[in-house]
Amino acid sequence: MQFFLDTGHVEEIKQALEWGILDGVTTNPSLISKTGRPFLDVAKEILQLVDGPVSLETVSRDAEGMVKEGKMLAELGDNVVVKIPMTPEGMKAVQILESEGIPTNVTLVFSPTQALIAAKAGASFVSPFVGRVDDVSNDGMKLIREIKQIFDNYEIDTEIIVASVRHPMHVVEAALIGADICTMPFEVLKRLFQHPLTDKGIELFLKDWEKVPGKPF
Ligand code: E4P
Repeated sequence: MQFFLDTGHVEEIKQALEWGILDGVTTNPSLISKTGRPFLDVAKEILQLVDGPVSLETVSRDAEGMVKEGKMLAELGDNVVVKIPMTPEGMKAVQILESEGIPTNVTLVFSPTQALIAAKAGASFVSPFVGRVDDVSNDGMKLIREIKQIFDNYEIDTEIIVASVRHPMHVVEAALIGADICTMPFEVLKRLFQHPLTDKGIELFLKDWEKVPGKPF
C-alpha cells in the first residue's frame, strides 16, 4: 500500500521524504488555507519535492470551470492529479480531463455507488473519506471494503485512496483490505512508527551496551 501525506505543509513532506516512505501527496482548499501561504507557492514547492502523484483541488462548481482550473493545475508539473468533487458536473470534467491525459482524483466520496460512478467516468483515483463517515456514526472502513470488492468484481483499475484518515488503525485496516493508497495527516504517519516496546528495548540495549568492555563506538 502506498503512503500519501494529506497536507499543505512542506516541512512535513520533507521529513517524510527523508524517512523514505512517501509515495505522494494530497491537498485540499482547507489544508492549503492552514499554511497561510499563497496557493501557487505551496503547490510548486510540493511538486518539486515529490516524485509521485500530487493532488491539487479545483474549486469551480461547473464542469467548464473545473476543466479550466484542471488544465491550469496540470501545467504546474507532470505529477499533478486534479482533484474533482463527486458531482454530476464533476464527472463531466473527469471525462474531459482524462481524455486529454490529465489524471483525476474524485474526492468527497461517501458511498460505493459514488465510487463506481467515478470509476465509470474514467477517474484515475477515487477518495472515500473514512473519518467523516465514522463521524456520523457509520462504518468508514466498511465503505472501503465494499468499494474494493466492487472494483475487484469488475477489474476496475481506478485506484482507491483511503482518505480522511484519523488514526493508525485506519491505516492497518486499509492495508488489510488491500486499498491501493492511504493518505494521512503527518501526525498519523508519525504514530505509525511508535511502539512502547521499541522504546523500552532501545533503552535496555543502550544500558547493557554501557557494560560492554572495549567499545569501538
Ligand atoms: C482527502 O484527499 C482529503 O484531503 C482529506 O483526507 C480530508 O480529511 P478530513 O476529513 O480530515 O478533512
